[in-house]
Amino acid sequence: MSAKLIKGTEIRDAILKEIEAEVNEIKEKHGIVPGLVTILVGENPASISYVTAKIRTAKDLGFHEIQDSQPEDLTEEKLLALVEKYNKDDSINGILVQLPLPKGIDDKKVLNAIDPDKDVDGFHPVNVGRLMIGGDEVKFPPCTPAGIQEMIIRAGVETSGAEVVVVGRSNIVGKPIANMMLQKAKGANATVTIVHTRTKDLAFHCKRADILIVAAGVPGLVKPEWIKPGSCVIDVGVNRVGEKISEKTGKKIAILKGDVDFDAAKEIAGSITPVPGGVGPMTITMLMRNTLNSLKFKLGLM
Ligand code: GUN
Repeated sequence: MSAKLIKGTEIRDAILKEIEAEVNEIKEKHGIVPGLVTILVGENPASISYVTAKIRTAKDLGFHEIQDSQPEDLTEEKLLALVEKYNKDDSINGILVQLPLPKGIDDKKVLNAIDPDKDVDGFHPVNVGRLMIGGDEVKFPPCTPAGIQEMIIRAGVETSGAEVVVVGRSNIVGKPIANMMLQKAKGANATVTIVHTRTKDLAFHCKRADILIVAAGVPGLVKPEWIKPGSCVIDVGVNRVGEKISEKTGKKIAILKGDVDFDAAKEIAGSITPVPGGVGPMTITMLMRNTLNSLKFKLGLM
């Protein structure tokens, strides 16, 4: 293995310690802790495990936390009323509605109903706009892109003037991370290309990348010969390709594979994120940071 491993688990642990220290300080000085509610509609197994992990982390950090689980047949009207209830709840600084929502509920309508000042996912159009403008305007960068940028910074990878190629154009990862990497800011200032399913020659673009960010949702899409020697490869793919029995717990767990052929890519790249244990742990960490920051904005500390 020649590439340096960028371990999300280690970076997560360091950032969570920083957050915990701030939570304790604010609690002492102001007698208040950040409050996070996650709203889960239905019983999608992946969503249940994500939401459980988010709430467990919030609890471990000393946040006030609520996991609000609702039945699959909840109406859109009732979900909108629930969001409004938490918009008005002073003990709540962050509202997260887990996606995807069941068929029949318009997710845009629901996301747009969240108070932009409690939108710790950063999905509300107001926060998407703030992100586009950049600088001081940004309140809540979306969690996965924020985690990616933090990993790049903490790994010491030079971004200024770098060729960044983003594979994938989703609203959750591809579009926001591309926008963040081109801002005039720390961990950015890059020349950015976005490629997607209609791009004519994916390999051509990937081969030019000093920093390759792959969020396509296609296991093993990026081949080793597409990777520029010495480059930084960030694999956002979390593809469930099967199941196995966990050695630790004896329970069935998903076998996860990234969008990059890791075993071959690690011999060519300069640095690379593993799957699992790479970008995944950073998403929850950034959600915690956004929730803490939401309280800090409210208290005038930011
Ligand atoms: N579903 C998959 N990723 C996310 C996320 O980051 N936020 C929310 N709300 N739902 C998701």
